[in-house]
Amino acid sequence: MTKYTAKPTDAHGFVDYTPTEDRTWGTLFNRQMTIMPHYACPEHVKGIQNLALKPDAVGQIPHITQHLMAATGWKTKAVAALISQEEFFTLLSERTFPVATFIRIPEELDYLPEPDIFHEIFGHCPLLTHPLIADFMEAYGHYALKSSPEEIERLGRLFWFTIEFGLIQTAKGLRIYGGGILSSYQETLYALDDPFPKRVDFDLIDVLRTPFRIDKIQGIYFVLQNFEQLFSLLQGDTLAKALDEALRLPDHPLRYKGETDGEAGTTSHPC
Ligand SMILES: [Fe+2]
Repeated sequence: MTKYTAKPTDAHGFVDYTPTEDRTWGTLFNRQMTIMPHYACPEHVKGIQNLALKPDAVGQIPHITQHLMAATGWKTKAVAALISQEEFFTLLSERTFPVATFIRIPEELDYLPEPDIFHEIFGHCPLLTHPLIADFMEAYGHYALKSSPEEIERLGRLFWFTIEFGLIQTAKGLRIYGGGILSSYQETLYALDDPFPKRVDFDLIDVLRTPFRIDKIQGIYFVLQNFEQLFSLLQGDTLAKALDEALRLPDHPLRYKGETDGEAGTTSHPC
């Protein structure tokens, strides 16, 4: 359920945002850009430039598509506020990124459980200009479409701990590439600076065995060495073998600040 409704697009795919909505985008954009150089991976920062994102108005899907097509052949598509897993995976397999066109209200600037257009465009679209991420996302969609519900739950964990909440080593040190972090000012600072969360080397089996909650700030982050490592997971039978093994093993315990267990996320989170 969501209290938000996607805004309608005109015949050319543009949305008529209100001045308040444009200001919300600008506030989020400017605040995030003050910290991006020190927290985001350089590929994400470059992706923001490649998409020509600006603070003055909410990003428009036709503009994003134009830049994505030129970079990696991806496009964006306006969708309802929440879509089914099958629609999400199908769109990814078609190199199409779904974007709900609403933006959060000013009262929810800092925490939003639902993916709004700032999350989708600022958080995810910049890395879709990177060839390895672009190809990974398409391959992920294809793989999920032929997977069982049990496997899809584990694949949701892979998506969660990489595309949404992944960290990566860079020449300048640890940086963020997960769009779920980079669209949140608080979690951007927390992910690299807070002493609580574990930051562990990426291990595919461990990722597939680690449940998550969508309503908590992370207690563990998995760290890639590079994007080739992520892309290689979907080559050959690496992921199939890892899924087989992970499904035979128990889940790791949940780890969140202030508590040690709770109800795990049981489905992949289409965002
Ligand atoms: Fe997302």
